[in-house]
Amino acid sequence: MLVGSYSVLKGLFDAQRGIYSSAPPPPNSMSTRPALTTDAFRLDGRVAVVTGAARGLGQGLAVGLAQAGADVAMVDVLPLAETRRRIEELGRRSVAMDQDLREMTPELAAAMIEKVVSALGRIDILVNNAGILRRAPALDVAAADWRDVVEINLSTPFYLSQAAARHWVAAARGGKIINMASMLSFQGGLMVPSYTATKSAIAGLTRALANEWASRGINVNALAPGYMATEMTSGIRDDPARSQAMLDRIPAGRWGTPEDLAGPVIFLASEAASYLHGVILPVDGGWLVR
Ligand SMILES: NC(=O)c1ccc[n+]([C@@H]2O[C@H](COP(=O)([O-])OP(=O)(O)OC[C@H]3O[C@@H](n4cnc5c(N)ncnc54)[C@H](O)[C@@H]3O)[C@@H](O)[C@H]2O)c1
Repeated sequence: MLVGSYSVLKGLFDAQRGIYSSAPPPPNSMSTRPALTTDAFRLDGRVAVVTGAARGLGQGLAVGLAQAGADVAMVDVLPLAETRRRIEELGRRSVAMDQDLREMTPELAAAMIEKVVSALGRIDILVNNAGILRRAPALDVAAADWRDVVEINLSTPFYLSQAAARHWVAAARGGKIINMASMLSFQGGLMVPSYTATKSAIAGLTRALANEWASRGINVNALAPGYMATEMTSGIRDDPARSQAMLDRIPAGRWGTPEDLAGPVIFLASEAASYLHGVILPVDGGWLVR
């Protein structure tokens, strides 16, 4: 699947190389800039942090980044052994951090970033993937559920982004932050008000941080997955009528997979995306344009 993603990206870039490297530069172009090649997508020597990397989309993101060359620090409350095995089989280093993200504070975020730097030597990429969904009609939402969703889906990405950006600013270098948005960053959804509120907020936060940090060489963008086959959607997928209704609504005609995010996350984490700021990139099989 990743090889497929790479060949699509490579095709696009080989087409573009004709423009960048063979044709004369257009007037006022950045003619001192080196020709862009597919090497711009490689992440060799970079270090990524992926929250919620034990399973599902986070595991796909962590393995995808490792396939492109990055070492990966993983954070989760669930065992990280399988993700670690897959990363290390690719010849990349990994660090596992057992952390309940409901406990996030600015101090904990700073300590986690420091731990990554001391274990793997640096940090270049932060993927704020961990997220939870608690389903209930708005009339019945419990305060504890509301708080957990806000802590994990919104406060944790903010504090980790702040800690990573403080680290990069102090070191006078840039970095890449990739948040996990959702179709519910664009739509209201039903019976998931806390999830919709946090996923809409994460889109706003992505744009706000992009505005503040672009000039410091920090790219803040988000992926907005459509309906993906993970634990989070198992309830819908196990109900044949609801599952079929979803499939009928997805132009690609299938649920997304963790592997579908590998190409997009590699792109956003790479130098190829260095002029992208505040983008919310749907990876949804066409759901939004239906
Ligand atoms: N599955 C989808 O269709 C879909 C669609 C759009 C966006 N997303 C987003 O993608 C991200 C990943 O979702 P997924 O489908 O892989 O879900 P998932 O439930 O399969 O995985 C979530 C991961 O986060 C971890 N996690 C949960 N609570 C945690 C906590 N308190 N501390 C540390 N780790 C914790 C879990 O252990 C798990 O490994 C989420 O932000 C989700 O909102 C998912």
